Amino acid sequence: MSTRPSPRSSRAAKRPSPRRARRPASAQVVFEWLGRIEAEYRSAAITQETTLWLIQLGASPDLVRAGLRIVDDELVHAEMSRKVWEAAGATGVPKLDRESLGLGREHADLELDVATAIVKVFCLNETVAVPLFANLRKGATVPVARRALDRILKDEVRHRDFGWIALEWLLATPARDAVRDLTHAMLPAWLAELERSYGDELVGGTESVTDDERAWGLAPAREFAAILHRTIERDYTRRFAKLGIELGRGTQ
Ligand SMILES: [Fe+2]
Ligand SMILES: [Fe+2]
Repeated sequence: MSTRPSPRSSRAAKRPSPRRARRPASAQVVFEWLGRIEAEYRSAAITQETTLWLIQLGASPDLVRAGLRIVDDELVHAEMSRKVWEAAGATGVPKLDRESLGLGREHADLELDVATAIVKVFCLNETVAVPLFANLRKGATVPVARRALDRILKDEVRHRDFGWIALEWLLATPARDAVRDLTHAMLPAWLAELERSYGDELVGGTESVTDDERAWGLAPAREFAAILHRTIERDYTRRFAKLGIELGRGTQ
């Protein structure tokens, strides 16, 4: 029997330890994951408030429970994002902008505030979040970042579905006409907001990303914009049309 190591074991012997293999984290990595911690807290707060409103409207317990589960998911995302932020070298406590952690009432009819939250946060944001996070996850090889993105991506699919189910429910209540009119009127402005967050109008986004930064789960702004535009063409148009809502009607 030969005592020479097999090619496989000699490769294994040369493999650096996981600690040594970790990619260095740039200041941009620390900055982006700090933003993600804040965004996850914001998502938890907004979903908590939306779910309270659903209770006040007497929505089905199933829909309410689905909302409560999302609040917990968002807190898990915040915890996991904080682990990535710390692994990237950050210390201290993230500062939260309390003003942004909630929605607040805008309309006399609660149904319209719920419709605004459901369409903006879940139908629009959570729907585009699925391909956006899939893109970040694709290049993420640093284990702590990959674990966070695995969990976030898995959950965002359910968060997206919650939005479309809740909108369908709202369109079956006595407030259906007002909800439909509001959605038609506001969609152009809400899509313009998305464009400022992820699209060509994004200011201050990451223009170029190194291989190391991609390994930590970052991607350049131009990829976000391309994904948003694909989502508008393929996803939003089809999903709203199924509910009798035309994407461009409010601008005509
Ligand atoms: Fe999240
Ligand atoms: Fe989410």
